[in-house]
Amino acid sequence: MTTRESLIARLAAHRQQHVLAFWDALDAAGRARLAAQIESIDLDTIDRLYRNGPDHEDFGPLMARAEPPPAVRLADAERSEGALRAGAAALSAGRVGALLVAGGQGSRLGFPHPKGMYPIGPVSDRTLFQIHFEKVLAIRARYGQPVPIYLMTSPSTHAETVAFLDRHRRFGLPEDELILFCQGTMPAVDARTGRLLLKDRDQLFLSPDGHGGIVSALEASGALDHMRGRGIEQLFYFQVDNPLVPVCDPTLIGHHLLANSELSTVVVAKTSPHDRVGNAVLVDGVVRIVEYIDLPDAAARAREPDGALKFWAGSVAIHVFARSLLERAAGNHQLLPLHVSKKKVPYLDDSGRRIEPADPNALKFERFVFDLLPAAENAIVIEAQRRQIFAPLKNASGAATDTPEWVRAQMRRQYHEWLTAAGVAVDADAAIEISPWTALSAEELQEKIERGQWCVGSGTELP
Ligand code: UTP
Repeated sequence: MTTRESLIARLAAHRQQHVLAFWDALDAAGRARLAAQIESIDLDTIDRLYRNGPDHEDFGPLMARAEPPPAVRLADAERSEGALRAGAAALSAGRVGALLVAGGQGSRLGFPHPKGMYPIGPVSDRTLFQIHFEKVLAIRARYGQPVPIYLMTSPSTHAETVAFLDRHRRFGLPEDELILFCQGTMPAVDARTGRLLLKDRDQLFLSPDGHGGIVSALEASGALDHMRGRGIEQLFYFQVDNPLVPVCDPTLIGHHLLANSELSTVVVAKTSPHDRVGNAVLVDGVVRIVEYIDLPDAAARAREPDGALKFWAGSVAIHVFARSLLERAAGNHQLLPLHVSKKKVPYLDDSGRRIEPADPNALKFERFVFDLLPAAENAIVIEAQRRQIFAPLKNASGAATDTPEWVRAQMRRQYHEWLTAAGVAVDADAAIEISPWTALSAEELQEKIERGQWCVGSGTELP
């Protein structure tokens, strides 16, 4: 059979032949591209999701059984010293790696490059990637052991990310400590008909398969083997858009280790019922996260007798994974169900006209990495202070929050607080930035200032 005939046979079984409408007019490269995309799609799964809806349980009944989760306080006076020791020991033994997800399309921000390339440093214009890499390098220097970064890209961000990191020589990270791997994609279908959407005459509309795509991408790329080979047992997971993330924080890793947990997730107190963060909840004794879009209104608004929000624990997408859980999940893809969401997706209609829908017209399919929580042994929730760890860059200038201006203001506020706590007087409106090389926390800055290792005003570290 020719390619065309075999494609038709495959597509016809699912009534999707329309994606070949322009086949005769395509050149060889266009045909090869479209054929490869069609062959990579699991059409049975798409059919099933369209007909039956998502693989996961309905959130209404699930939230009816939900309770607020128990949480360990990151700075709990009794436990945090032991946690710091345990985390520091793991870092000193070279057993910790960093998992950085940067495959998203960043559509809300509207920046025409991967989000990690956004210059966010309030004084230096350091990019998000540079900030994260310098934090890892500072941890590496402090504990004297490599902390490999496993960096997930997607077809939308891969090539530019590779070129950018090459250009900057990985900000000093040794070559064998940066493992880039590309996640997979999922097609979008018309919400009314279930038909696959074309982005162009020779291309389906495909988008990254969600941060949960990390499990199969880690396995397929050999990154899991790399971790095993290097003796990496714990992975500090974070998102590229949050410059305040306390990358590989030893106390956080220590709480996870002391609880013998396979997945520990960090939360902050929500500021409103519909705060745009995931909700950590306890259902049938199991910790899970329910995205804000999936949270039924009654559950979002539920209050305790003292007036506090019942479901108070907002996820900041910072987790610590045991490698054992990622390995188990790689062997059992059912652990990560596909979620379905309705989005606006521009497409070509059957006559080749480009349609820009005014309203959500398509179903997109994604996996969420936090769906591994129910499969984890001894999962725990760790509560931290929002202002200390979370300022995500999501929106373009002009939005109320999570914009470049807002994120820079949060960064300046943090540096200001660190300096004030260390007894340094700073003007409220001073332009400040503290490099990760100087300090990763208020405590480290204070120690350095007290030991005379950092000179206020010079902005540089003394030898
Ligand atoms: P978001 O869901 O906030 O998406 O991703 P986004 O791409 O940053 O922005 P929008 O929604 O298109 O405006 C949260 C984190 O998860 C990563 C993103 O790169 C970001 O670090 N992510 C998201 C992936 O790595 N892959 C995905 O498929 C989705």
